[in-house]
Amino acid sequence: MGETHTIRQAAEIIQKGGIGAFPTETVYGLGADAFSPLAVARIFEVKKRPSFDPLIVHVANPADAEKLAADIPSNAAKLIKKFWPGPLTVVLSKKEAVPDIVTAGLPTVAVRMPDHPMALGLMELSKCPIAAPSANPFGYLSPTTAEHVRDQLGDQIDFILDGGPCQVGVESTILSLCEKKPRLLRHGGLPQEEIETVIGSVEIGPGEENVPSAPGMLPRHYSPRTPIMVDWQGRGTDPFGDRKIGWLAFREPEKPFKFHPVEVLSNRGDLREAAANLFSALRRLDTLNLDLILAEPVPEIGLGKTIMDRLCRASGH
Ligand code: TXA
Ligand code: MG
Repeated sequence: MGETHTIRQAAEIIQKGGIGAFPTETVYGLGADAFSPLAVARIFEVKKRPSFDPLIVHVANPADAEKLAADIPSNAAKLIKKFWPGPLTVVLSKKEAVPDIVTAGLPTVAVRMPDHPMALGLMELSKCPIAAPSANPFGYLSPTTAEHVRDQLGDQIDFILDGGPCQVGVESTILSLCEKKPRLLRHGGLPQEEIETVIGSVEIGPGEENVPSAPGMLPRHYSPRTPIMVDWQGRGTDPFGDRKIGWLAFREPEKPFKFHPVEVLSNRGDLREAAANLFSALRRLDTLNLDLILAEPVPEIGLGKTIMDRLCRASGH
């Protein structure tokens, strides 16, 4: 899998039951025809993903959600109208035709319309919805460049579409709309507050039914190999002796940096910019054979909740 492919070539590969990586506004996905159980099975195999972890199905336009969902409740319709294409995944009760391997046997399906011309073009030319998890080995950080995908999965997949770095940089927000109250299953690229301006308050965290069904919610997930610790206060001192420690800073500090290497997520302390840089910065630190990555906490508003969620999962808490 050396050369790069055009969208048309990639679509032909998808139609023949192949799998490949494509950019979205959130992270790169590893996609297959959602209605081809064999192709979808290969995604699980390549990612080493447990089969109980269902996939998000991506659609090229809102109307295609009706081919997957048995019913689109009115709050889902409102959110779709307002936020698609964009980083919002809705979980709805599924149509029978959606293969069990996609939904891990659940009666529900997660659907989203990504906001990226290559992703949309790929689905239009493939003429099918595309089931796609993030294009990383299970448990590792999601890829936000084509290079990230090539490094880890390049020799195991049939194409990579290179759309440059992802604008949002963290995965979509997942909202379940098939219980009595809307439930936010994963913080992501669309802030909770924006959802609540449209449909009112939402519950947070796994409902009883989806405890086993959302490994994106497992405590240790989205992790670099290097241990990571959040909420470190002792900036002026070195409480860690001669260990090699890297620092993931939210913004440019007032005092000089104590530790090297350092990655600054956003010089001016902008949460959107910080989210867009998060996984690339963690990957760079992760290649340096450090003993520890210290991560500065970010304010828990808007995308700050998503960043803190990923940092805490990466740290195992
Ligand atoms: O931004 C994103 O969402 C990216 C891009 C490629 O679209 N995709 C992504 O997929 O992050 P993945 O597979 O890494 O994470 C999807 C999460 C999983 O944790 C899975 O458990 C949850 O979605 N999920 C999928 N179907 C579900 C369902 N029917 N009910 C509850 N959770 C579901
Ligand atoms: Mg993932």
